[in-house]
Amino acid sequence: MKKILITGGAGYIGSHVAKSMFLQGYNIHIVDNLSTGNKWALKWGEFSIGDIRDKQFLSDVFSRFQPDTVIHFAAKSIVSESQEKPDEYFDNNVNGTQNLLDVMCENNVKNIVFSSTCAVYGTPSAQLNEDHPRQPLSVYGETKMKVEDLLEAYHKSKDIRYIALRYFNAAGADPESEIGELHEPETHLIPNVLKAAMTNTEVSIFGNDYETPDGTCIRDYIHVQDLARAHMLATEKLFSGDFSGPINLGTGNGASVLEIIKAVSEVSKITVKTKSMPRREGDPNILVATPKRAKDILDWQPKCSNIKNIIKDAYNWQRSLT
Ligand code: UFG
Repeated sequence: MKKILITGGAGYIGSHVAKSMFLQGYNIHIVDNLSTGNKWALKWGEFSIGDIRDKQFLSDVFSRFQPDTVIHFAAKSIVSESQEKPDEYFDNNVNGTQNLLDVMCENNVKNIVFSSTCAVYGTPSAQLNEDHPRQPLSVYGETKMKVEDLLEAYHKSKDIRYIALRYFNAAGADPESEIGELHEPETHLIPNVLKAAMTNTEVSIFGNDYETPDGTCIRDYIHVQDLARAHMLATEKLFSGDFSGPINLGTGNGASVLEIIKAVSEVSKITVKTKSMPRREGDPNILVATPKRAKDILDWQPKCSNIKNIIKDAYNWQRSLT
């Protein structure tokens, strides 16, 4: 079976991809520096601890494991932190990826699936397709855009084949609650609303005066299990070698912050307390995908991303932690 190297496989999305692909029979090797990833999420495949900026480390892993494909998650990914520490974000995300690409070339590994983001778009829209201009509002988004450019350059000059999966808002958890979202600090909406529900505290609503029907920001929430399946399809697609480029992963439907809070109350049967806070810097009012390319190229469509299902799995995961 194909050998897949997963960088950042101890993280939220990476660990779900590792589980799904391992269970499909792929041979998995994870590398992670455990700076934000979790040791307990390393349940499937082999693991080497190390940093993608360390060329010797990567070269050793490549010569031992000899992967067929790399799935690349390892990155720093907190938008607010990226504004304060641009040097760390460029170094980890951009220099780290260039190092990885160089080691791939040295080892004749040609295929890479990259974890990109809707944060590359920046300017709000309810119908974002892949040709929408990239104008990231944050350093984080800028680093992901730079990596997309690196991939394109290596594609043209060194025969690297790549798919940059631009995730919209990853959410939910493993339906078996073996793994799930656990960031420290947690900045994402759904886990924060669930925590507020479970601890009888208030969740902050960052801005209620946006140009949206209820005044709160609209996002396209996509179940992490649907993302995992897309990585598998992208991996297979690369072996056919006839597509390299970006692909959106979203549902095409948006939900507002208030709609998420209402859905959490309905699923948990707990009334969630809220407090109004000023807008968070750099939040566009609406980001919703046009997921047509994912259907056309990967034959992918979301299967488990309705909001209540996402929240049910996230809630079960949060409860399993207490
Ligand atoms: N929000 C709240 N309260 C919270 C947390 C979030 O009101 O406690 C709001 C945010 O202001 C935003 C929405 O909920 O309007 C969603 O926020 P998240 O932090 O859950 O997600 P983002 O849309 O900010 O982040 C996502 C991805 C990032 C990516 C970014 C691009 O997680 O990786 O989209 O905009 F960079």
